[in-house]
Amino acid sequence: MKRILTGDRPTGNLHLGHYLGTLKNRVKLQDFYECFFIIADLQVFTDHLQDSEKIAANVFEVACDYLGVGLKESNCFFIQSQVPELSELSMYFSFLVNISELKRNPTVKSEAEMYGVSNINLGFFSYPVSQAADILAFKADVVPCGQDQLPHIFQTREIVRIFNNHFGPIFKDPEELIGECPILKGIDGRKMSKSLGNTISFAQTEDETEKKILNMLTDEGRVRLKDPGNPQKCLAFSYLCFFEKDIDEIHNIENLCMSAGISCRDCKKRLSNIINDELREIRERRDFYHSDQERVWNILRKGNEKARAEASKTLEEVREAMGISYHS
Ligand code: TRP
Repeated sequence: MKRILTGDRPTGNLHLGHYLGTLKNRVKLQDFYECFFIIADLQVFTDHLQDSEKIAANVFEVACDYLGVGLKESNCFFIQSQVPELSELSMYFSFLVNISELKRNPTVKSEAEMYGVSNINLGFFSYPVSQAADILAFKADVVPCGQDQLPHIFQTREIVRIFNNHFGPIFKDPEELIGECPILKGIDGRKMSKSLGNTISFAQTEDETEKKILNMLTDEGRVRLKDPGNPQKCLAFSYLCFFEKDIDEIHNIENLCMSAGISCRDCKKRLSNIINDELREIRERRDFYHSDQERVWNILRKGNEKARAEASKTLEEVREAMGISYHS
């Protein structure tokens, strides 16, 4: 069985953007691959140093989100910091990467611009190298991820090339797997992000979700009920296209909107019913795990152990190849 490695930073609850972008995809893939899901707690320190007291709670939340969406307990769920071999490998890789190359990484660049380029710390600057270690320590075949993670995959392949050249053929190139990955905007039209308060998440109740959706942006040109709307300018309609499975119903709503035959409020009520229906089972399963902390931490403990065992094997090979294993 081929192997997958992918994961998320535990900066808060996962939301509908993650769901459409990657989680749904992962649920399908788990039947065909051996899966390792990394909860990348160390990566949180790249830009959320001040959040350290929330990290454990957020790790727990992300684990509940994973299990809630239907990832099976039998997968390996692990916490980055609990596999110190990853940090070790990252250190070795740091000698194989040019600073100028890191400076060109478009994802790091745009993230750094958000914070003011001169303000980022060394760990932020080099996190693509650490991410390469996450992937290669498990010799993952496939990395399902969003478009923004692509430069890190290229960086990983570059490290494979240089490492294998210098020290022998230990690693193989991982393949990226970009999901259909629609970009779901937040309810205010900005990027969906917990810190902007514009997300819809599994952790919310159905009422909270409905409230959020009723606040969602619609066509600003439609001021009065009798004004015809333009669905192409309506965020709620774009959501409907993602979540309504019946194409005829989408066309129906489109026509009703353009002929002022439905109010925005009614339309958003329908949308929130569709989304709440889709999330109901996920939320129930999530609640089940959320109320059984012991069970979730046990899954993570087991995952950490398995991940360590796998990463240790790779690190033995790496130290040997690099001439620093010191077996007498
Ligand atoms: N950078 C990823 C994110 O921000 C998280 C991550 C860490 C990751 N290590 C990884 C993703 C390895 C894929 C593979 O969501």
